[in-house]
Amino acid sequence: MKVAVLISGRGSNLQALINACKADDFPAEIVLVVSNKADVQGLERAEEAGISAINLTPKDYDSRASFDAAMNEAIQKSGAEFVCLAGYMRLLSDDFVRTWRDKLINIHPSLLPAFKGLHVHEQALDSGARFSGCTVHFVRPAMDEGPILAQAVVPVLPDDTPDTLADRILEQEHKLYPLALKLIAQGRVRVSAERVIITDHNPPQGGLVNPVS
Ligand code: GAR
Repeated sequence: MKVAVLISGRGSNLQALINACKADDFPAEIVLVVSNKADVQGLERAEEAGISAINLTPKDYDSRASFDAAMNEAIQKSGAEFVCLAGYMRLLSDDFVRTWRDKLINIHPSLLPAFKGLHVHEQALDSGARFSGCTVHFVRPAMDEGPILAQAVVPVLPDDTPDTLADRILEQEHKLYPLALKLIAQGRVRVSAERVIITDHNPPQGGLVNPVS
């Protein structure tokens, strides 16, 4: 399965996907990386891996719709059949989300539907929650909403700061995102009545929680 990855920065989740795709038996291949920010580490990671990478700058376009149309055109041209958001920090237009419906996933650093948007780890700490984690979900027009495909749970420790919690969650993100992409590329995932159904996958504990790498 040919995949495009959209990023805005560091690209550590992109790197996790690149690493996973290197295995001969991994059923997906990254054919394009698009960043809405110039000079970010994620673009360097793509170039190092020999993957086509482009930067599209929002201020060169007169609207969100025209920016997303240009991005869509680049993705279609690359031959990608599926799109992964990996730290892509810009809202997508309804049109883009509709075009890629059920072929577009995101990773978010909380156990959705808790703690959407920005300052996620501050939100988790302020809430007093004992657990946080990360979620891979299909994208819908509303931010951080859509059918949940996979989650990993991480304890919140008494002396956690937003940074220490973020680091512990990021480690799980790097395992969860490749696993989610693999299940999709193997054709084992479908969305029915806005729930995700996964066939022939029996993870420990009966749920897709804290996947082994
Ligand atoms: C990751 O923690 C990702 O879950 C988060 O941004 C970080 C990007 O890191 N995404 C969101 O908050 C999206 N709502 P990375 O660039 O190193 O992958």
